[in-house]
Amino acid sequence: MLMGAAGVGKTCIIKRWIERRYFGEYIPTKFQKETTEVAVKGKNCKVEILDTAGLSAYWSLRDSFVRTVDGIMLVFSLNDVESFEYLTTLHEQVSRGMREDSTIIIIGNKEDLPEDVRSVNYHLAQETANKLGAEYRETSAMTGFQIDDAFLKLIELCMDKRIAVNDVPTKKTKKGKITQCRQQ
Ligand code: GTP
Repeated sequence: MLMGAAGVGKTCIIKRWIERRYFGEYIPTKFQKETTEVAVKGKNCKVEILDTAGLSAYWSLRDSFVRTVDGIMLVFSLNDVESFEYLTTLHEQVSRGMREDSTIIIIGNKEDLPEDVRSVNYHLAQETANKLGAEYRETSAMTGFQIDDAFLKLIELCMDKRIAVNDVPTKKTKKGKITQCRQQ
């Protein structure tokens, strides 16, 4: 699921990954689902991608899906400091609603823009991601820079986390029932 402020490039990121093209026109998203297949760690994965609205009018729909997803890309735009500041709030809300076995990655999009219009520097973004315990990638939907890498990294992290959380040792009770043993 991709989340972030309006106009940061969520739809363009998805189109670049799935259709290998840049769709520069801005049409505000309400909610949209795309599907693709990809090989990760030697396994074919069917990936469903939820494109959510940056505009607040459609947030209730967006928020109702948080608990259903394996991975979340929190996207901001490198030339929009407000979209970056909004990430911390969004991260807090999402962390409360998401499942224990889902994963967040942070994306600074529009990496192609020249330095003089960039308002969030790499080190600040990386430091923020570290504090939030998330991976950070800079991408450009326009040029395709690190788009594959961002999606593949998130899918890998989702697979690893799911295995780690669900691979809990089990033991048989006296009555023969299988129970899970949580490690402290
Ligand atoms: P909402 O649907 O309102 O949430 O917006 P969104 O986050 O889906 O943004 P969208 O993908 O529609 O992109 C908004 C605008 O940003 C587009 O019209 C593009 O022109 C521009 N854009 C998106 N990605 C890039 C990028 O990598 N580089 C540059 N320079 N512009 C981009």
